[in-house]
Amino acid sequence: MVAENRVIVELAAIPENVGVARLMAAMVAAQAEFTVAEVDEVKLAVSEAVTNAIVHGYRGDSRQMVRMEAALEDGELTIVVIDHGRGIEDVALAMQAAVTTDPERMGLGFSFMEAHMDQVEVTSQVGQGTRVSMRKRPAAKDVASLKGS
Ligand SMILES: Nc1ncnc2c1ncn2[C@@H]1O[C@H](COP(=O)(O)OP(=O)(O)O)[C@@H](O)[C@H]1O
Ligand SMILES: [Mg+2]
Repeated sequence: MVAENRVIVELAAIPENVGVARLMAAMVAAQAEFTVAEVDEVKLAVSEAVTNAIVHGYRGDSRQMVRMEAALEDGELTIVVIDHGRGIEDVALAMQAAVTTDPERMGLGFSFMEAHMDQVEVTSQVGQGTRVSMRKRPAAKDVASLKGS
């Protein structure tokens, strides 16, 4: 098990790189005490955040880059996904379930991220971009700390 790690990648804003981001995040998560099911949750959350950066942030402009940072600190995973795209006018509204600016989509991306991660923080500025920071701690580790081990 690895308690401390830091991986930073820049991905061209093409849909094919959602899978690349998922795998990299999963590999970092797998170094900590996450179960296979928890790693799957991390993969889902990362997929949603990176898809949003590509689809909404950059609107498919494949020359742009999405940055993903995956870090383990004291066994806790932090994933940060950053784009320098359009930004979000009203973050609180955008994060509500079923709110989308694209009628083809379901508006559940942020809800999935919040369901699968312990904490999701979004900062955004119109015309500047968006930063999504997500944290997750292995559930088993909480049990261990309750027992005082
Ligand atoms: N990185 C981003 N850049 C710009 N807008 C975003 C970004 N991420 C999310 N949004 C906005 O927030 C809305 C809600 O996102 P989400 O919950 O993932 O639902 P969906 O992607 O299905 O629309 C999007 O429709 C979009 O307007
Ligand atoms: Mg989405």
